[in-house]
This record gives sequence, C-alpha cells and structure tokens, in this order.
Amino acid sequence: MKIVVTDQAGEVHELEGLDGWRAMEVIRDWGLNIKAECGGACSCATCHVWVEEAWYGKLPAASDDEEDLIYSTLDQKPTSRLSCQILLSEELDGLQLTLTPSAAQT
Ligand code: FES
Repeated sequence: MKIVVTDQAGEVHELEGLDGWRAMEVIRDWGLNIKAECGGACSCATCHVWVEEAWYGKLPAASDDEEDLIYSTLDQKPTSRLSCQILLSEELDGLQLTLTPSAAQT
C-alpha cells in the first residue's frame, strides 16, 4: 500500500506504507519534514497533517485527546488529524495527506 504526502514545500511524495503502521511512522521513516516529538504518544501535535477531504471521512473519529491537541495548533483546518493516530490499512491505500507548518522540524 502507499500513501501520498505533500510536504510543506508543495512537493508530492508517494510513500510505500505498511498495514498496521501509523502514517506518522511512514512519513518520518521516509525522511520527510515531520517532527513527531512525542514519538506517537498523542501528546505533542507535531505530527499534524491535513487530510484530503475525500479521505477524511474514511478515518475513524479522533479521540478527545487528539481533538484537544489539534485545537492547540495554529494551522488547524476542518480536515486536520494527527498522523500518529492514523493506523494504516488496505482500506487506506492511496491516502492523501499534507504536512502542516506546525509539523515541521525547526
Ligand atoms: S507524534 Fe506526538 S502527537 Fe503525534
């Protein structure tokens, strides 16, 4: 399976992903610009992505903790999610995400 990620510079990357991995882990392991400071513990919001509208509704609902963290970012949108909370599966093959400024390493 693959995910399609647009980075902060607008460059589009097709990344090979693995069933059961978190989107954040795939993005990080392919070397894209994602801070993911807490390593996936849902406590930092530096893995914040915008999900392409058509895909957003296919994701399980965000937890209250995730929603609170998204709310704390300055660049949130209605399709914001934390990529460490997106568990990849065959149903999400082709998932399109955009890396946000708040996810960038400084
Ligand atoms: S990596 Fe920290 S909330 Fe996702």
